[in-house]
Amino acid sequence: MNAAAPASPPLAAAIVADEPQHAAIALSEFFDGHPVATFAIDTRHVITHWNRACEHLLGWSKLAMVGTSNHWQAFYPKPRAVLADLIVAGDETQMELLYPGKYRASALIPGAYEAEDFFPNIGASGHWLHFTAAPLRDHQGHIVGAIETLRDVTERRVAENALRRAHDNLEHVVEKRTAQLADMNEQLQEDIRQRHLAEAELRRSNLELTELNSQLSRAQQQLVQADKLASIGQLAAGVAHEINNPIGYIFSNFSTLQTYLDQLFEMLDAYQKAEPGTAAAAALRAQREQIDLDFLREDIPALMAESREGIVRVRHIVQDLKDFSRVDANQDWVWSNLHRGIDSTLNIVANEVKYKADVVKEYGDIPDIQCLPLQINQVVMNLVVNAAHAIGEQRGRITVRTGADGDGMVWIEVADNGSGIAPDTLSRIFDPFFTTKAVGKGTGLGLSLAYGIVQKHGGRIDVDTELGKGTRFRVRLPVSQPEGEADAAGSAP
Ligand SMILES: Nc1ncnc2c1ncn2[C@@H]1O[C@H](COP(=O)(O)OP(=O)(O)O)[C@@H](O)[C@H]1O
Ligand SMILES: [Mg+2]
Repeated sequence: MNAAAPASPPLAAAIVADEPQHAAIALSEFFDGHPVATFAIDTRHVITHWNRACEHLLGWSKLAMVGTSNHWQAFYPKPRAVLADLIVAGDETQMELLYPGKYRASALIPGAYEAEDFFPNIGASGHWLHFTAAPLRDHQGHIVGAIETLRDVTERRVAENALRRAHDNLEHVVEKRTAQLADMNEQLQEDIRQRHLAEAELRRSNLELTELNSQLSRAQQQLVQADKLASIGQLAAGVAHEINNPIGYIFSNFSTLQTYLDQLFEMLDAYQKAEPGTAAAAALRAQREQIDLDFLREDIPALMAESREGIVRVRHIVQDLKDFSRVDANQDWVWSNLHRGIDSTLNIVANEVKYKADVVKEYGDIPDIQCLPLQINQVVMNLVVNAAHAIGEQRGRITVRTGADGDGMVWIEVADNGSGIAPDTLSRIFDPFFTTKAVGKGTGLGLSLAYGIVQKHGGRIDVDTELGKGTRFRVRLPVSQPEGEADAAGSAP
């Protein structure tokens, strides 16, 4: 310790050298008793004051310090300038070197500085100090020393640090939680997306299944119907063949018979001329009168003509049966005259229709079309039969029209002036087994079959109907089938 310390002039005395002695003592007392740790140095960096608070805070006694330049000891392990030293030296460049980023000029006192730092050497575990150093000046304004006050801000800093840590921690937790939430949200969104995808997929496959199902049932209908048609066709062809033979020879026999009759009548004439006189002649005459030969002469040709006409009609029916069945074509795609098919179909169904309606034909100018004629006949038949069924007590009219649209399509129209179709029924008429007719009268297959056949031809059916006024079905068919399509379809039984 510097023994000269008590001898060095007290700072207050230096400042207020010309003040009365008691004032200096009072100031010194004040300085000592001031609860803020404070020390002062003179221009030689010698400690002039070291108050009790300072002793308390830094653990170095006034006795040990005043009069020495060892104030660094209270703060650092090695000698170096403290803030007060820099003020005395007026060396601000050192300030940045020694307190980098930790000091600033005082806002209150010109030339004063303050700083805050951690001092590991003070106390057991170090202390945070906030310290201010200000110059001391004489009356002329010359710097005569510097005064430095020290405040222990350890508690505040620790609290601040704890707060910051807590804050950081909180932020971290919030961040983590936010990230977790975002993750969960994303997961949720993904889940929802997957669910939507799965639902859409389900709906799609359901639709596919429904479509497949209806395709299956249509195919089944067609198979059943095609089977039925084929057997009807075969039956018709067989019957036609059976009838055709006898009709053929009856017809040719008729001409021969006609010749024979003519010859016989000539013979009779000859006999008649030879009649007069003889007894045999009298018997002949009696017989002639008894059989009324004159009437026979008239009636026999009439009977012959009528029979011939009957045979011609039978022949037509046979031809119609053949046309309708087209067994010779065996359901191949052929170029066919629609009018011929419609005519034969109308003849076949004539019995069903003739007591209920007049059939009016309004044929347009249409080309032959590539089709399965037997099946088209079936479509026409179903439409005409339906039309006849739709007609009530009063005799009605069924009009069959044809025409060409000039866009590679032809159409067949079957119109009636019957009951019409109710709106809620209309959407179901093409459904298999849908019927509004009594049991035994309708199977509900007619239109579904027609629909299937027309579709197979690449055509379409449209309905126009008004309740109580009548209905018009229009079937559009392409004139020719796409290349290859007809061959593939034609191989079906
Ligand atoms: N020309 C028409 N006029 C009125 N209703 C019709 C006509 N054609 C079809 N329908 C209605 O469509 C239904 C289905 O017809 P369809 O499939 O041929 O079966 P079905 O004739 O055996 O009942 C009929 O029951 C009838 O209600
Ligand atoms: Mg029907």
